[in-house]
Amino acid sequence: MTEHIDPLERHTDYGEIALEEGSLLSDPIAQFRVWLQEADDEGIYEPNAMVVSTIDPDGTPTIRTVLLRGVSDEGFAFYTDYTSQKGVALAANPQLAAVFPWYSLHRQVKIRGVAEKVSEEDSDAYFSTRPRDSRIGAWASDQSQPIDSRAALEEKVQKMEESFAGVDDVPRPEKWGGFLIRPRSIEFWAGRRSRLHDRVRFVRHESGWSPERLQP
Ligand SMILES: Cc1cc2nc3c(=O)[nH]c(=O)nc-3n(C[C@H](O)[C@H](O)[C@H](O)COP(=O)(O)O)c2cc1C
Repeated sequence: MTEHIDPLERHTDYGEIALEEGSLLSDPIAQFRVWLQEADDEGIYEPNAMVVSTIDPDGTPTIRTVLLRGVSDEGFAFYTDYTSQKGVALAANPQLAAVFPWYSLHRQVKIRGVAEKVSEEDSDAYFSTRPRDSRIGAWASDQSQPIDSRAALEEKVQKMEESFAGVDDVPRPEKWGGFLIRPRSIEFWAGRRSRLHDRVRFVRHESGWSPERLQP
């Protein structure tokens, strides 16, 4: 039998703030921006961190954290190595899910959608804002590939530093860039008493977004 874990033997009752359909903005992306700002205002560490799940070509799921680097009416952008495990997964199957876990606010936002590469111009523009060391790192690291040791990685970085010596503006490697998550649904979750949490999911239709309440 599975042992149940409740390390502090506590059952915290979550918030008092109701999530009424009518109190949410009708545009879930605008609503997301409000919650993201509130998460930042409340001092959440890395409020733009989201856990993204993808499906590998063999059909198995995998997840990891990435940082949200852009929100627009089109969707949610993050940047990565296209040859990484997630990059390879998304090339074969662009469906993904993501969650922003703002535990101390008793909130989460769950997104389901389809990823596509952002334009090269957008990737260049974002890459150019990154510090030189991060840019060199993007060249040096074959993300998600095994390597013998930390020393071997640092040697690769050293070699890249040498090859970019004298180059002020380290260019973006082609394998590095952004994904835009085009959302099909966005769910706002707010913790409530007795586990009777509020969940409002917006589903995208041809004509726009429609909200529906889900049972907790
Ligand atoms: C807080 C946090 C933020 C991260 N942000 C990114 C990111 O924006 N892009 C990225 O490629 N990896 C980021 N990572 C590392 C990823 O979680 C992951 O290790 C890496 O992308 C390789 O994932 P993959 O092997 O599943 O492709 C972040 C990790 C943490 C903990």
